[in-house]
Amino acid sequence: MSKAPGMPSSSSSSPLTSQPPLSTASPPAMPLPLRTIPGSYGWPLLGPIFDRLDYFWFRGPANFFKKRMEKHKSTVFRTNLPPTWPLFLGINPNVIAVLDCKSFLHLFDMEIVDKKNVLAGDYMPSVKFTGNLRTCIYLDTSEPQHAKIKNFVIDILKRSSTVWLTELKANLDILFDTIETSISAKGSARLSFPLQKCLFNFLTTAIVGADPTTDPTIADSGYAMLDRWLALQILPTIKIGILQPFEEIFLHSFAYPFALVRGDYSKLYNFVEKHGNEVVQRGVNEFGLTKEEAIHNLLFTLGFNAFGGFSAFLPTLIGTITSDKTGIQEKLRKEVKEKIGSSSLNFESVKDLELVQSFVHETLRLNPPVPLQYGRARKDFQLSSHDSVYDIKKGELLCGYQPQVMKDSKVFEDPESFKAERFMGEKGRELLNYLYWSNGPQTGSTTESNKQCPGKDIVPLTSFLFVAYIFQRYESISGSSSSITAVEKAK
Ligand code: HEM
Repeated sequence: MSKAPGMPSSSSSSPLTSQPPLSTASPPAMPLPLRTIPGSYGWPLLGPIFDRLDYFWFRGPANFFKKRMEKHKSTVFRTNLPPTWPLFLGINPNVIAVLDCKSFLHLFDMEIVDKKNVLAGDYMPSVKFTGNLRTCIYLDTSEPQHAKIKNFVIDILKRSSTVWLTELKANLDILFDTIETSISAKGSARLSFPLQKCLFNFLTTAIVGADPTTDPTIADSGYAMLDRWLALQILPTIKIGILQPFEEIFLHSFAYPFALVRGDYSKLYNFVEKHGNEVVQRGVNEFGLTKEEAIHNLLFTLGFNAFGGFSAFLPTLIGTITSDKTGIQEKLRKEVKEKIGSSSLNFESVKDLELVQSFVHETLRLNPPVPLQYGRARKDFQLSSHDSVYDIKKGELLCGYQPQVMKDSKVFEDPESFKAERFMGEKGRELLNYLYWSNGPQTGSTTESNKQCPGKDIVPLTSFLFVAYIFQRYESISGSSSSITAVEKAK
């Protein structure tokens, strides 16, 4: 691919040499041609059903976007995205895909896009899952409740930093003790349940201010309750990979009712109401929320955002470390040993770990935990990709698929390859302008006026600590994203 106007040539050592970050506002060096958006929505009912099968079954999400991008010779095109038909008849699956860093950027511009109820496109799980309320993530910035709830969450994270660290370390001790015991007894350790238990205990204490061990039911099965509640909301939108056509028939054809998890949700609600009262009261007294709004949003932030996000990302991070064959473990361990040694881990100590940080950022680039982002055009406007301009009509739904966007060859050199050192040094750090996992650039600021994830900084920081913890504890670790097969203790 040739470089776009305004972008440096491919011969430069970094694609971003002294370039300002992309912006939807800055005009390109040369005017770009106006193009009709390629692609179509096909026949009513048939187009959406074909696209759904192509997305979930024939190709899978990654190839679905890649192949169409190649077919249309464009990073911007029209397509349908599931869920569609038969019981999602009220849902409009028509979207405009935006698949390069420049066109994707429009999704962060709150002047241009409306984020009301578009977390999963035109489909939204029943509000019964969240106490008949629309939680923060479904609110547009023009809605007054958005600022109140977002500031509440930002405040929680600010206040909880000390607890965050101590709880993370204490629960990592439990997690890896459990893993070692399983390896000794059975030769390997499954990761999923112990990791989720660790995450649930640590995040509940850090975010809700409530210790799950005070309630045996929550301590034992809180994480599984959140899993079920989460799964029912997102099942129609994700590929699981079970035998087709069963996945299409049973998982993607209708929305599961809240009634199936009502009991679980009530237990979690009561737990937060009783044990998280101090945080709930802050939501009420300092941020003007009702008690119900504070509790349902706390549960959503805990369960969907934090627990859901980390449950998706950490197995990938562990898998990237444990299955590595390029010697990255040795390099990471060396850096941790040289810069921290056996001193206590904290947020300050990981700030010097350049390689660990770059490794985490590269893992986030190639595996953005929330792959799809949407935004509805607030007005008619012109959308720019690297090489063309397109007319967008008010009300049209833009959809970015991040795993493809993060392989933009005009921004990332050799974009398909995992390069642990990619984000190191001055030029590497500039690339953080284009790391979008948090629904905004990694160099951006999370505020009440945008929709960037409030966990933008704490998520990478927690991941740096996680990697540093592993290499303080182990000389080497083997396995995959789902199990650990061997560990060699640090000397
Ligand atoms: C690996 C972990 C996480 C991932 C991958 C993640 C990802 C995201 C993404 C992609 C969005 C934007 C969704 C959209 O509008 O399309 C988002 C929003 C949000 N996230 Fe996170 N997140 C994570 C952790 C957290 C944590 C730890 C918190 C707070 C404790 C949090 C709280 C929120 C909230 C409240 C929003 C809504 C923001 C708004 O409406 O302005 N997230 N997150």
